[in-house]
Amino acid sequence: MSKPVILTGIRSNEEPTLGNYLGGMLPMVALQREHAGEYQINMFVPDLHSFTTPIDHASLYRNSLTNLKYFIAAGLDLSNPDTFLYRQSYIPAHSELTWILDCFTYVGEMSRMTQFKEKSSEHNESVTMGLFNYPVLMAADILLYNAKYVPVGEDQFQHLEITRDIATRFNNKFGDIFTIPEATKQQMSFIQRDNGLRIRSLTDPTKKMSKSSTDEKSKILLADDPEVARKKIMSATTDSLGEINFNWETQPGITSLLQILALLGGRSQEEVNAEWVGHTQYGDFKKAVADEVARFLTDFQARLATITDEILLAKLEQSERDMAITANETLLRAQRAVGLRPTV
Ligand code: TYM
Repeated sequence: MSKPVILTGIRSNEEPTLGNYLGGMLPMVALQREHAGEYQINMFVPDLHSFTTPIDHASLYRNSLTNLKYFIAAGLDLSNPDTFLYRQSYIPAHSELTWILDCFTYVGEMSRMTQFKEKSSEHNESVTMGLFNYPVLMAADILLYNAKYVPVGEDQFQHLEITRDIATRFNNKFGDIFTIPEATKQQMSFIQRDNGLRIRSLTDPTKKMSKSSTDEKSKILLADDPEVARKKIMSATTDSLGEINFNWETQPGITSLLQILALLGGRSQEEVNAEWVGHTQYGDFKKAVADEVARFLTDFQARLATITDEILLAKLEQSERDMAITANETLLRAQRAVGLRPTV
């Protein structure tokens, strides 16, 4: 029996942020530590997803490698034989399955995707088919490897649900072709979180911290100089209530900093809240968060510097060979189902 698969990806179009680290990378590393031996872990870079909106193509290839190094610096153990690291575009089955799934996906349901609506309003004169089709490629990423768990931040939940819808529709028509990933609620309890994680922008804490934001002060990049990051935390938007409380509605800025402090320090939210709730000196509190962020970045960047291209490429090439086998098996099942290949 093959092991259940946990799979996630982080796009490589911009420098990843603290939000990507806490929402996408750290949960995978924690799962690998807790479940080594029981599960297969697939971490990949969705490089084909990177230019659904305009990017600097000259840096894409390099950024993809760097992004994978970030996963390793986050603590992913490459020597684990059940861990696979790969680039989406190196396994052509992703593109081929996308086309098949496209023909079982409705324009109406794609038009309702929040991320498409938001991004298409930002780039309204150049909305591409790629941006529209983005969730179907993501469904192919998940279904090709029979993934059961897909740890992602809250912003990706809708894409996970549409993956389940497309796969269920296909299976209802053709039989048991795809493994349906668990619903987001089960996913969250598996990674021991009640809610999806949504690290907030430092300048507008009602929004998520987004790597594509042009406001540099709104985000902490994993590549930020620790001193620059420290200043960003010190100038983060809070409120004028004058007392620290953990409340997303009334004090999203302070609450977001409390959350960052707990997650980066590997402490429970209760413990951090017990230390700070009720305090009135926002400056002291921000300094504690800024110190934690600077300490984290210093350690993280030191680990990153030790990871060479050779180590990474050796792992990628092996994983890409291994994963192409699984991906092609799933693709063949789908091709047979729709009549492109003879049934056996
Ligand atoms: P991407 O590259 O935008 O983000 C990568 C991961 O980081 C999470 N994330 C956050 N979590 C908490 N707070 C934030 N502020 C924050 N910002 C980003 C995202 O939820 C995600 O988990 N479509 C995906 C990439 C993808 C993928 C896949 C993921 C393509 N195919 C298949 C899983 C499975 C994306 O754009 O993520």
